[in-house]
Amino acid sequence: MQQHPIGNAGELQQQADSSHPVLTTQQGIPIADNQNSLTQGNRGPSLLEDFILREKITHFDHERIPERVVHARGSAAHGHFTLTESLQQYTTAKVLTEVGKQVPVFARFSTVAGGAGSVDTPRDVRGFAVKFYTEEGNWDLVGNNIPVFFIQDAMKFPDLVHAVKMEPDRAFPQAATAHDTFWDFISLMPESMHMVMWIMSDRTLPRSLRMMEGFGIHSFRLLSASGKSTFVKFHWRPQLGMQSTVWDEALKLQSADNDYHRRDLFDSIQCGAFPCWDLCVQLFDEEQAAMLPFDHLDPTKIIPEELIPLKRIGELVLDRWPDNFFAETEQVAFCPANVPPGIDFSNDPLLQGRLFSYLDTQLLRLGGPNFAQLPINAPQCPFANHQRDGHMQQAVPSGRVSYEPSSLQTDSPRASQASGFTHFAQATPEGSKARLRPESFADHYSQARMFYQSQSRVEQSHMASAMVFELSKVQTAHVREAMVSHLLVIDEDLGRRVAKGLGMQQLPRAAEPAMPVQDLDPSPATCIIDRM
Ligand code: HEM
Repeated sequence: MQQHPIGNAGELQQQADSSHPVLTTQQGIPIADNQNSLTQGNRGPSLLEDFILREKITHFDHERIPERVVHARGSAAHGHFTLTESLQQYTTAKVLTEVGKQVPVFARFSTVAGGAGSVDTPRDVRGFAVKFYTEEGNWDLVGNNIPVFFIQDAMKFPDLVHAVKMEPDRAFPQAATAHDTFWDFISLMPESMHMVMWIMSDRTLPRSLRMMEGFGIHSFRLLSASGKSTFVKFHWRPQLGMQSTVWDEALKLQSADNDYHRRDLFDSIQCGAFPCWDLCVQLFDEEQAAMLPFDHLDPTKIIPEELIPLKRIGELVLDRWPDNFFAETEQVAFCPANVPPGIDFSNDPLLQGRLFSYLDTQLLRLGGPNFAQLPINAPQCPFANHQRDGHMQQAVPSGRVSYEPSSLQTDSPRASQASGFTHFAQATPEGSKARLRPESFADHYSQARMFYQSQSRVEQSHMASAMVFELSKVQTAHVREAMVSHLLVIDEDLGRRVAKGLGMQQLPRAAEPAMPVQDLDPSPATCIIDRM
């Protein structure tokens, strides 16, 4: 058995030996005693001179960094992506053209509303963010487990998040949508109705992170070698199938284990049952986009698979738990603007706002402009630029040249027209500069109805019960009524069921849609790809 010296007062003094290296300060000064502060005499006051105590406490005091403003609670894992079908016809991105090559990835799953210490199982959207360390730089596919979003324009994101997070005066609820400010905002934003239908479905009560679908949501572009653009929507399909709990189970899990999803992901990886997803795409061009009965640039709309079928192109496997939660899961910085050459953005106004927001917030959260040097964020391909200095700079470049053009140094980095990123040469849209919502974004109810009516009777009754539960927590009568008036447009029977569940004596008047609600017919006969 190991022998430990005992200090003056009988405390354990573990000491370095052949298998335990010497404990040091950050400066490398060896520490003799890790139990006692320096004091003036026996039982005397502690001395300011004790640089070992000060360094230890100071570092501890600074251990917490700001948590993410949204998606603060997350669990992540390492793995790899393997392409099974090349998209060479559509894109030059090697990650989407080199079949069979394993690309390392880091995937982080999250809840949205709660803080970093909140529970795993509330009714909430789940983030599904994947960083691909490709040979042409990092590609971040920053999606959710629901294929649409609440709002159409990034201008409304701070309002949405302020409405869903805990209320500023009372600081609750910490991780739930069942409160007045959330439903007040939603009831005044008809564009959120489609997403609300998904939130009230069992999709927001995943059985496991391994059993969630994932979606890139926006239309992105793929660019071919000849500069041709094809729109693409990204989908993750869990190989275990999509599975949910019901509300009662979620509540029991919440009281039994706050870390239910994190533990499940950890356990499954530890025992070799690696979570796997198929990566699928929907591909379409401008002409096909024009045939859709809605605008694909509107992130509150899906493209039904009956109209544009999914094509499976690869597989994601998560097989390694992070070595350190803080260094990796906390410090990872995803950003939808991180795309390799061959992938580009669409004009979706929500995506356009996101392209700015993530880097901006990470400059604050991760303490300055050098967070891309953190091992979890650094590319795993060669990289070089002329950026220098700044807070927490880790690199020690040599030489005089940190600018371009230059003639003083033969190995300084330069741009490459042959392999560099180029944007799609989109013609400038006509029209004057203005703050306008496109008319093609005005249909807020048709897809909400399509989703509700696509559910089985059991699923529909779960949704009705969820709405009764959520809205019964709302104390403001006119907010409850406003919500029921939207539900009456989406599906009259649903509106009536919820009104009855809330004990309303009288049905409110149905909301007035900005444009007539369409009964969409997503049947194989309407497939757009086949018609081309
Ligand atoms: C974080 C998804 C819309 C701002 C995240 C994360 C995900 C995500 C998955 C967590 C990433 C991680 O695990 O670290 C989405 C999706 C959206 C959306 C799918 C809509 C389709 C927006 C919009 C904005 C925004 C419109 C702002 C204009 C942020 C910010 C963070 C974040 C500031 C925190 C990032 C960090 O601290 O690293 N989002 N988001 N998001 N999102 Fe979004």
